[in-house]
Amino acid sequence: MPVVTFHNEYRSFEVEAGANLRQAMLKLGVTPYMGLSMLTNCRGNNFCGTCAVEIVDGKGASPRSQDEEATLGGNLAIAKIIEKNVRLSCQTSVRADMVVKTHPVRHIDKQKTKERLGLLAVVSFFVLTFVGMFAYLFFDMIKKF
Ligand code: FES
Repeated sequence: MPVVTFHNEYRSFEVEAGANLRQAMLKLGVTPYMGLSMLTNCRGNNFCGTCAVEIVDGKGASPRSQDEEATLGGNLAIAKIIEKNVRLSCQTSVRADMVVKTHPVRHIDKQKTKERLGLLAVVSFFVLTFVGMFAYLFFDMIKKF
């Protein structure tokens, strides 16, 4: 059975080959989450990105999928740099011995974040304008009756 070593926790465990890393971590009492994300995470559905860990040498883990990369890339507003060895523990299977660092520092991609925020501002402007116009016309129509 592969041995998973948790670098920050100074602990090692044997895990079934092919086990889901997030589930194994939670079973062993090691959490990939910090703060409120313990309660607000997506429970392993590749949606929130809060279960990120660093596989130190990148070996022993299943390959990263495109869906996982999309989640690691941030959300609608904030773009994050996808570091080579950062993985979502909920999307990673244990294939061989590995060293895992919990709570890796994730860096923001400033250029992409600026672009996303700009696009979000333009879309918000148009949506609010249409909603405002619609509300104005609706209340104006009600007033006439
Ligand atoms: S738990 Fe949400 S992406 Fe892994």
